[in-house]
Amino acid sequence: MPIIEQLQKKQPYYWENPHRLRWEEAEKQLSIQPTLIDDAEARLQRFAPYFMAIEPTMKEANGLIESPIQQATLLQKRYVHENEQLWLKRDDILPIAGSIKARGGIHEVLTIAEQLATSNGLIEPTKDYAQFTEPAFHALFSKYTIVVGSTGNLGLSIGIMSAKLGFRVVVHMSHDAKQWKKDLLREKGVTVVEHTGDYSKAVEQGRKEAEADSFAFFIDDENSQALFSGYAVAARRLKKQLEEANIHISIENPLAVYLPCGVGGGPGGVAYGLKTIFGDAVHCYFVEPVESPCMLLGMATEQHHDISVQDIGLSNQTAADGLAVGRASKFVGQLMMPILHGIVTVTDNQLYRMVYELKETEGLQIEPSAAAGLVAIGLIQAPAAYHVAWLTGGGMVPQSEWQKFYENGENVDVQTQKEK
Ligand SMILES: Cc1ncc(COP(=O)(O)O)c(C=O)c1O
Repeated sequence: MPIIEQLQKKQPYYWENPHRLRWEEAEKQLSIQPTLIDDAEARLQRFAPYFMAIEPTMKEANGLIESPIQQATLLQKRYVHENEQLWLKRDDILPIAGSIKARGGIHEVLTIAEQLATSNGLIEPTKDYAQFTEPAFHALFSKYTIVVGSTGNLGLSIGIMSAKLGFRVVVHMSHDAKQWKKDLLREKGVTVVEHTGDYSKAVEQGRKEAEADSFAFFIDDENSQALFSGYAVAARRLKKQLEEANIHISIENPLAVYLPCGVGGGPGGVAYGLKTIFGDAVHCYFVEPVESPCMLLGMATEQHHDISVQDIGLSNQTAADGLAVGRASKFVGQLMMPILHGIVTVTDNQLYRMVYELKETEGLQIEPSAAAGLVAIGLIQAPAAYHVAWLTGGGMVPQSEWQKFYENGENVDVQTQKEK
């Protein structure tokens, strides 16, 4: 199949999704309803007093886990056409966990906590959720274990949030998860299980372990609607932020959004949320590393999670550890079939270079995974009035680790995209 041969070249590539439909048609085919987003939005609102109680810096945002947008005035001159604007969505500085994973991961932990507290008569939806800080809640949650498999950032968000509420937490980490992430979780009292295999193996092991324990909840990165809906809420918040910046999206002035993709839940949730708001006026692109294009492979072959990047001889080894996923979510892949504009693949050197460039231009420090959207903008030059690159992580990366990314980027030759 030509698409597989193309991916085997490990070169930057743009796959335009031939299955895409007009939103009016696409909407009818989807297996989920926007009420899913309503529920998540309301839950996050109920927990706002809790967040203001545990994290004083969140008072400014009224207890919402949200990040700002900012215009990239210097990068805009380089990467988009004249009269177009380039904006950055700063999920790299999201509160609690410093990555897009704080949206879905925390929402799912809150869903579990709320269910348990409600069924044990500790809380009702109309009560003040700041009560979740009280010892009775901790005592209840301490009987339960939350289990998750992760390449790193999901583990961080779930580990930090669950431990704060009083749960026991076990995070199964893939071999590519960074040491500092494991260390940080252990410091917070989280049990970290290290695997020699990749992300899919870590998830499989976590699932098995949780199934054997009736006091355990498994957070399923591949199939969870609670994760997905937590990400989707971001779209409604973005709409408000764009309006505040006097940006009005329409078919004539469309919005293009570039989302780094691992297993697909994060970018899928955001893309779905955006479609329910802007319909055909938003164009969503996923971006994956050339060694881990699992969503592209799954969608293009229509085999979804029945095919992995290893099956076609790719290594699934990448500097973008958050995107090092060999087998995509079937739930998300199928949902994206009529929605997504396309998928772009990028090299590690392009990611490193963009980490460097973003520091030099806008002064921001992000991790390589989070640079994928910006790289894609330069590669495909899609026309749109407004471009939003989702900066998905980096806020928790230790300075010494970030410095290595920066230096790698400094050493990349811009013309050849190879090391100097
Ligand atoms: C920084 C960063 N960006 C993007 C993603 C992709 O999210 P998903 O795996 O839900 O597709 C991840 C996943 O861990 C991540 O850590």
